[in-house]
Amino acid sequence: MLKIIHPIAGIIGFLTILTFWTSTVASELFGSLETVVAVKRAIPWGLLILVPALAIAGASGFKLAGASSDPRVIGKKRRMPFIAGNGLFILIPSALYLAALASRGELGPLFYGVQAIELIAGAVNLSLMSLNIRDGFRLTGRLSDLRRQAATD
Ligand code: HEM
Repeated sequence: MLKIIHPIAGIIGFLTILTFWTSTVASELFGSLETVVAVKRAIPWGLLILVPALAIAGASGFKLAGASSDPRVIGKKRRMPFIAGNGLFILIPSALYLAALASRGELGPLFYGVQAIELIAGAVNLSLMSLNIRDGFRLTGRLSDLRRQAATD
């Protein structure tokens, strides 16, 4: 069961942050002021998916890992506190603060400063999580299977 729940939770977490990130950048670049405000007000609801997904991915990952000394498992373990800390101390507070500023129509330098920090922290988490996905697929042999298949195609 854990073997099924773990990758699903991890990939949902990854896709949630990817959606926050791309909808933020797309609305800032191409959207109206109303769209920017709507995106910022929607993101805190997405936290209701992100937070449990990350907690489940982390807890199930540590259970699956047990006492393994495989370097890919050690790498995943080492990245997890950064992923969780980035989420708890940067992504969640900035999402809530940006939603409050956007709701009051305060889209000045403070808004864009916090927005820049949120985008950087989001990009850091996306890269750490993609490394965890890559190492996960290597652990279960799926990545090497795909490579072998590509080589014979
Ligand atoms: C957000 C963070 C994480 C993501 C996105 C993630 C993602 C994945 C994915 C996609 C797989 C492949 C599953 C499969 O092919 O069936 C996997 C496997 C695995 N992950 Fe993670 N993982 C995360 C965190 C962790 C942590 C913190 C650990 C603890 C060391 C961990 C340990 C494992 C282990 C041991 C496997 C192999 C499980 C098996 O044998 O079926 N993961 N992970």
